[in-house]
This record gives sequence, C-alpha cells and structure tokens, in this order.
Amino acid sequence: MGTLVTAANVEKIPGLNTLGVSLSRVDYAPGGLNPPHTHPRATEVVFVLDGTLDVGFITTANKLIAKTITKGEVFVFPRGLVHFQKNNGAAPAAVIAAFNSQLPGTQSIAVALFAATPPVPDYVLARAFQIGSKEVEKIKSRLAPGK
Ligand code: GLV
Ligand code: MN
Repeated sequence: MGTLVTAANVEKIPGLNTLGVSLSRVDYAPGGLNPPHTHPRATEVVFVLDGTLDVGFITTANKLIAKTITKGEVFVFPRGLVHFQKNNGAAPAAVIAAFNSQLPGTQSIAVALFAATPPVPDYVLARAFQIGSKEVEKIKSRLAPGK
C-alpha cells in the first residue's frame, strides 16, 4: 500500500502501561495509502511532519469528513470511526500519530472482512457487498496474508 506504520505503544515501551497514551510514526510513499481502519480504544490525532495528505473519517451517520492536510497541520480521527490517509502528492509524506490509549488496537476493514482466520463465509460477504462469490474469492485471494 506504500505506507509504513511504526508504533510506539505499550508492546514496545512497557513504561506506557496503564497510562493511556502512545504514538506512531507513519511514512507514506508518493501514492501511498493507509487503508480504511479503526482503533477500538483510542482517538487519534495526526501531526504532519512532511508532505501533504488527503485524510478522512466516516461518522456513524455515514458522513465523510475529509480534508487535505500539509506539513505542520493536525487532524483528528475520533475513537472507533473508520478512517484513512492517502498521499496524493509527488513527494513522500510522514505524520506523528498520538493516541489516548497505550494500546489503541487497529482493525483494518478490508483485511478484517476478507482475510480473517477462519474466513468470513462467502455468503456473508457476497450479500453484504452485493457481489458474487467469484468476486468475493478474488478479493480474498488478493488480501491473503503474505500477498
Ligand atoms: C493512522 O491512521 C494510524 O493509525 O497510524
Ligand atoms: Mn489510524
């Protein structure tokens, strides 16, 4: 996807235990996407170190809140809401992400649905996405671990 997330959470820094705070650095190649995901235990604030990003989250009313942010700017992704970042620029981009949890957790939407173990049944995904089971299998094979 052209994105590298380096987490500084309680798994790496035991001193964060119980303190309700952690950080990540995210680096984006030109064109890089941090695909739609949620953090069940934290709100996230990103601060752009370099470059420009198109970012957004989707509210529970299914409204997209999106913005282009650039070096020195911040944006918030409220706890539990699906969000993403895309580097549509020609230069690399990077952010520091701050979380109000020592272990925010990350659930990637596409991977959760199409690459779970054991798999989510095709009939669930076919009906939910209004597609055929061939298309479901195609997506599953593309998102399989190691691909
Ligand atoms: C960005 O959204 C991240 O969770 O690192
Ligand atoms: Mn995030």
